[in-house]
Amino acid sequence: MKREIGNYHFVADAKTGITFRWGKTLDDNPTFAPVPELADISISNHCTKGCSFCYRDSGTNEEFMKLDDYVHVLENMNHPKYGNVFQIAIGGGEPLEHPDFLEIINETCKRGIVPNFTTNGINLTPEICKKIKGKVGAVALSVTSVDEILSDKVSMLRNEFIRVNIHYVLSAGNIKEATSIVKGDYSDKLVGINALIFLTYKPAGRASSKNIIKAGKELDGFMKAIDNKSMKIPKIGFDACFVPMLMYYTNIRPELIDSCEGGYFSVYIDHNMNVSPCSFSGDKDCYSLKTYDFYDIWQNKFEMFRQEHNNQCKNSNCKAHYMCRGCCPYYPEITTCYAY
Ligand SMILES: C[S@@+](CC[C@H](N)C(=O)[O-])C[C@H]1O[C@@H](n2cnc3c(N)ncnc32)[C@H](O)[C@@H]1O
Repeated sequence: MKREIGNYHFVADAKTGITFRWGKTLDDNPTFAPVPELADISISNHCTKGCSFCYRDSGTNEEFMKLDDYVHVLENMNHPKYGNVFQIAIGGGEPLEHPDFLEIINETCKRGIVPNFTTNGINLTPEICKKIKGKVGAVALSVTSVDEILSDKVSMLRNEFIRVNIHYVLSAGNIKEATSIVKGDYSDKLVGINALIFLTYKPAGRASSKNIIKAGKELDGFMKAIDNKSMKIPKIGFDACFVPMLMYYTNIRPELIDSCEGGYFSVYIDHNMNVSPCSFSGDKDCYSLKTYDFYDIWQNKFEMFRQEHNNQCKNSNCKAHYMCRGCCPYYPEITTCYAY
C-alpha cells in the first residue's frame, strides 16, 4: 500500500508487515494519518477463560459484534478517495469464540486489509490454522508468564507458516521474569516466535491497581536488560503505553520510537461500534458509528483529543521531552516517568 495525502506519506508491505511513514520530507513526522493505518476492533466481549486481570471484563455473555456490523465498520472506514486502513487487529472477548470468526477474516481480506488477531489460543485447531493460512498478518498468543506459552499451538500455526507473536502482559507481578526473558534465560520457550510484545498492565475492568508497574529497582533492571537485550531471543516490542518509559529509561534513540498512536494513526472500535482513540478510552472520547460517520469522528470529533494530547510531557529532564506525548490520558498512573 502506498498513500500520499498532502504532507502525509505512508508505505506498507502486506507480506512483511513493515510500514514507513513520513511528512513533508523524510525528516518530518506527520501529526496524524488522514486515514488510520490500523484499526483495533473488538469483535465481541464474550470469553469463557475469565482472566482475573481482563481489562475488558469479558465473560460468558454472548456479546458478539454481528457480521453485518463488522462489514458496516469496514465499509465506513473505507475513505471514498483514499481507500481503507492497512491492517486490523482483531480482539475481543475471545475472537476464536465468535461464531463468524472465519467470515470476519474473509470479509477483511476481501477488502485488501490485513487481519491480525490476538487470542488465548485455547480454541485454536489445525483446521482453523489451515483456513486462515496466507490470510492473516500475524497471530498473537496472550500470556502473563513463559509457562503459559502453548507450544503445541505455536507449532500448529508454524506448520501453516503463520507468523506467531507473544503478547506478554507486563505487570509488577512478573517484571522479574520478564527481565530474565529479555536476558535470554528462557530462549528455549521462544523457539518459532516472530516477536515478543510487552503490553503494559492497565488497572481497568477486572485488573486491580496493585499490579501496576512501579518506578524502582525492578523496573530499572528491566530497562537495563532492554538496553543489553540478549541475541538469543526474538525481536521484542512494546505497546504504545510503554513508550514514555522506553524514551526516558533506555538508550534507544527517541526518534526511532513512535509516540502513542491512538487517535493519531490508529483507532479502536468496540463490538457495539463505538469508536475511540484506543481500547482503554472507556466512555471518554467515544462516538458511535450508529450516529456518526467514521470520518466525521476521525477527522473532526477526535481533533480536540489530538490537540490536547499532542505533547503533554512534563519531564523536561527527558531526552525525548520535545516529542513525547507524556502520560497516558486514561490511566496516568501507568506512566512511571511522569512525576519528574
Ligand atoms: C482483552 S484480550 C482479548 C483477546 C484474547 N482473548 C486474548 O487473550 O488475547 C486482548 C489483550 O489484552 C491483554 N490484556 C488483558 N487485560 C489486560 C490488562 N489489564 N492490561 C493490559 N493488557 C491486558 C490480553 O492479555 C490480550 O493480549
